[in-house]
Amino acid sequence: MYSLISFYLLSLLCLVYGFRLSPGDSVTIPGWYLQSSIQAREEASKLSQPDATTDSWHRIGSRSTVMAGLLQAGVYNETDLFYSDHMNGVDLSDFQSPWLYREEFGLQPLPKGDHLFLITHGISSKADIYFNGVQVASSDYQQGCFGGHQYDITPHVRSGKNALLVQAHPTDYSIDFGQGFADWNPAPPDNGTGVWRNIELKQTGPISLSPVRIVTDFKTAPSERVLATVITDVTNQNNVPIQASFQGIIETEQDVGMQQRIPFSGNIRLNANEHTTISFPVTIQNPQIWWPAVWGRQPLYAIQLNVSTPQGTISDRAPRTTFGIRHVTSQLSPEKDLSFSINGHPFHVRCAGYAPDLFLRFDLSRVRTIFRYVLDMGLNTIRLEGKLEHPEFYKLADQMGIMTIAGWECCDKWEGWDYNPDGQGHQWTTTDYTTAYRQMYHESTYLQAHPSLLAFILGSDYWPDESATRQYLAALQLTNWTNPIVASASARGNPSGLGPSGMKMLGPYDWVPPNYWTSNNTPGITESGTAYGFGSEQGPGVGTPTLPSLTQFLSPADLHALWSHPSSGSYHLSPRGAGEFHTRKIYNTALFRRYGDPTSLEDYLQKTQLMDYEATRAVFEGFAINQNAASSTYARPATGLVYWMLNSAWPSLHWQLFDYYLRPGGAYFGTKTAAARGEHVAYDYVSREVRVVNLNGPRLTGGGKKGKRVVEVELISAADGKTVDKQVVGVEETEPGASVPVAKVADGVGRLQGVGFLRLLLKDALNGSVLSRNVYWVTKENDVLDWGKSNWYTTPVSRYADFTGLSTLRTANVLASVTVKEKGENGSTLEVTLENKADVPAFFMHLTVVDAASQQEDAAGEITPVYWSDNYVTLFPRENLKLTVQTPKKDGWRMVMSGVNVKRNVIGQG
Ligand SMILES: *[C@@H]1O[C@H](CO)[C@@H](O)[C@H](O)[C@H]1NC(C)=O
Ligand SMILES: *[C@@H]1O[C@H](CO)[C@@H](O)[C@H](O)[C@H]1NC(C)=O
Ligand SMILES: *[C@@H]1O[C@H](CO)[C@@H](O)[C@H](O)[C@H]1NC(C)=O
Ligand SMILES: *[C@@H]1O[C@H](CO)[C@@H](O)[C@H](O)[C@H]1NC(C)=O
Ligand SMILES: *[C@@H]1O[C@H](CO)[C@@H](O)[C@H](O)[C@H]1NC(C)=O
Ligand SMILES: *[C@@H]1O[C@H](CO)[C@@H](O)[C@H](O)[C@H]1NC(C)=O
Repeated sequence: MYSLISFYLLSLLCLVYGFRLSPGDSVTIPGWYLQSSIQAREEASKLSQPDATTDSWHRIGSRSTVMAGLLQAGVYNETDLFYSDHMNGVDLSDFQSPWLYREEFGLQPLPKGDHLFLITHGISSKADIYFNGVQVASSDYQQGCFGGHQYDITPHVRSGKNALLVQAHPTDYSIDFGQGFADWNPAPPDNGTGVWRNIELKQTGPISLSPVRIVTDFKTAPSERVLATVITDVTNQNNVPIQASFQGIIETEQDVGMQQRIPFSGNIRLNANEHTTISFPVTIQNPQIWWPAVWGRQPLYAIQLNVSTPQGTISDRAPRTTFGIRHVTSQLSPEKDLSFSINGHPFHVRCAGYAPDLFLRFDLSRVRTIFRYVLDMGLNTIRLEGKLEHPEFYKLADQMGIMTIAGWECCDKWEGWDYNPDGQGHQWTTTDYTTAYRQMYHESTYLQAHPSLLAFILGSDYWPDESATRQYLAALQLTNWTNPIVASASARGNPSGLGPSGMKMLGPYDWVPPNYWTSNNTPGITESGTAYGFGSEQGPGVGTPTLPSLTQFLSPADLHALWSHPSSGSYHLSPRGAGEFHTRKIYNTALFRRYGDPTSLEDYLQKTQLMDYEATRAVFEGFAINQNAASSTYARPATGLVYWMLNSAWPSLHWQLFDYYLRPGGAYFGTKTAAARGEHVAYDYVSREVRVVNLNGPRLTGGGKKGKRVVEVELISAADGKTVDKQVVGVEETEPGASVPVAKVADGVGRLQGVGFLRLLLKDALNGSVLSRNVYWVTKENDVLDWGKSNWYTTPVSRYADFTGLSTLRTANVLASVTVKEKGENGSTLEVTLENKADVPAFFMHLTVVDAASQQEDAAGEITPVYWSDNYVTLFPRENLKLTVQTPKKDGWRMVMSGVNVKRNVIGQG
């Protein structure tokens, strides 16, 4: 409420008092009045006059697509819109005409020689811009959702009231450069049209500056000094020569320990209307090096730069830019697989594909939670396929040490090539190549300084044609891009200006059994997506939300259909006709056959979490197991993985590691088990070996975890809890990147009758502490894959593994207690102690912290964001286990425990 009031207040103030700008100041247009051009009736040139009537218009924020604005203004209600198939009922004809964004503000008269610029950062899909009745930009030029431009509006400035009007033209993903969602989810009704990024006004004196770029000569740590070159484009806006004096400073960001301040300066003479580039070499002694999250700290430096006239008055200031000192390289293996190094150390990419909000709304605190989840799961990178967010997004990634792979998107206009048989994109015109250049130029300008950038991918499923590649590369070069550039996210082809991408896009995108991933030694299957090379988008497609989330967006009929009509389509999957993923047929068939026909919604949902957990764990473990595979006819090392996907743009049933409401489910904890333990012990379903994998980065501080290890392997029968196999193996210290077989359980698994549980413990040999704990449910026969019938999204199963015995486990009595470890203004840290009193395992126990005020435990939503040390845990007979959780609730919480053979129970409250 407070922010809403202050937003209106700010809007009012700027209208009454106006923007008071001095040279070098810029201001974001704080909000808009929005109306459809059909409703507005009058000509844009008239409406852009001060005092035009806008009574019926909607008041919206500074950056919002048409739909985001209509939601903010209450025309639509998100709860309602996202429910069932309601969004399908929105009248699309409302979005087939331009929409108008209008704002009035006061301005002071401009001193002679000063300039006022209007700065855009992309308007979807294209826009005409009017200022005080005059058209200052045309949609021939202001094109593309990443097309950022600067317009000199000095001659049209009025003292007193001024009006700005943006006429945003509808976006057709096949024709325009928008941000399409392909088969991810239904398209937003407006196709993302509108002023989705800020529009700014900036005043300068006679000399103006571009944002700064930064290049350093840093290669590897440690380093005694680094030469940082600060680069800016400078323009003499007037037609008389002038002397320009620059003053700048590079300084450490406040919260970073050792303070450093390094001033720099320079002078040049500019001819009339001259536009040139100036570079300032700055030496940084004892530079503080930036590292990815788990490798070290993330010190940032800030650059400030201003330019003055000979009279000593400031003429312009470059936007404050932060950067980090680090160095990224990429290389291709002999098999042409891509890998990366950061600061000279191999960086094994564990990534997932990011989805922005469906309406491109941006909430930094939500992004922070998403980033914390990324790190909590043990991932180190996210991929943005054509959804290049706002600068704050990258700044946060810089601060948190998360790497980002940016790039253009697939399928629509962006890949309108005649050699692309899959896409719907219209072929490019001459204007499109120019637009592409400008979009690349703009994005590179704002991305290049961020240390979180790992690479830019110029195309997704297809590589850009020769001419587009030349445009992209020219823009990147002119903006001093220093990170790896990859031709596309697939191995289908590459332009002559760039080598092979080194990324593979061979699926799967839909469910495959856990033994899929390490089956790569099977002859004849190298053209599939098993765990080798660099997978740019692949996974088993899972990510079922838990019941509290499902009830937020599915009707009772939708919920019933989930389990009773397993082949039915859902509006919350991929759109019908946009791909193969409108149903969960492949997934559900496997679930029904492997775990037995569900008897209720609850039973179905519990089975989905089992399926999701084992599915995601297997992908990440597959890539870890093969990370150092020796190259042979079939095998080759797994160099990196982009899991498909991290999150969803709206409430979705698939392709996510946590749901739209930020509740982590089975997919999340399967991933976390596989990826978040630096030293980990994993089971290879195919070779039936137990492997120790080392996922740590370089030992930078000399300390870290070291020493001998012990692996304890125990296989028990699910039905009676009796031991089938038990081994204790000593293991030598492993190095980062290692994957070593330490035991074989083939004999034991072969002796199983029905389902068995395999528990792997990796312990420190000296003090016995558990470094990794991992429990599998296994059967004598794995699922049998029909490799010959593989397609781009799955490999079918010809015989399913039989886990139906898990439905008849004897009930386990588990004692649980909860203690409060810490309680503060931001919530509490709780510790849960579980003790399985039974002589059978307690299978797949799910713990949640819910709101105590809620009446029903099962429908009460888990409070988010929530960080569990582990969840969906399976306890062996008589085993004890401690878990911790951080919850934002200080008081008024209740902890609920449930499990496949454990009674749902409230185990604590506070
Ligand atoms: C949206 O609709 C829901 C349910 O119909 C209601 O509870 C909520 O208050 C509405 N939100 C707004 C902002 O009007
Ligand atoms: C959105 O884009 C699609 C093409 O992907 C097009 O068919 C549709 O008409 C567009 N919608 C609007 C409202 O322009
Ligand atoms: C110009 O930049 C220098 C270096 O950051 C700074 O010391 C100086 O105060 C700035 N001048 C103005 C007027 O902002
Ligand atoms: C920045 O880019 C320009 C244009 O490609 C190039 O001439 C210049 O040398 C680059 N600066 C540095 C420090 O690399
Ligand atoms: C045991 O050793 C590990 C390193 O292997 C260390 O992380 C842990 O803190 C030690 N635990 C105790 C209780 O000393
Ligand atoms: C609570 O969170 C706020 C906002 O993130 C932070 O500024 C504050 O330091 C936190 N307090 C504690 C005790 O951690």
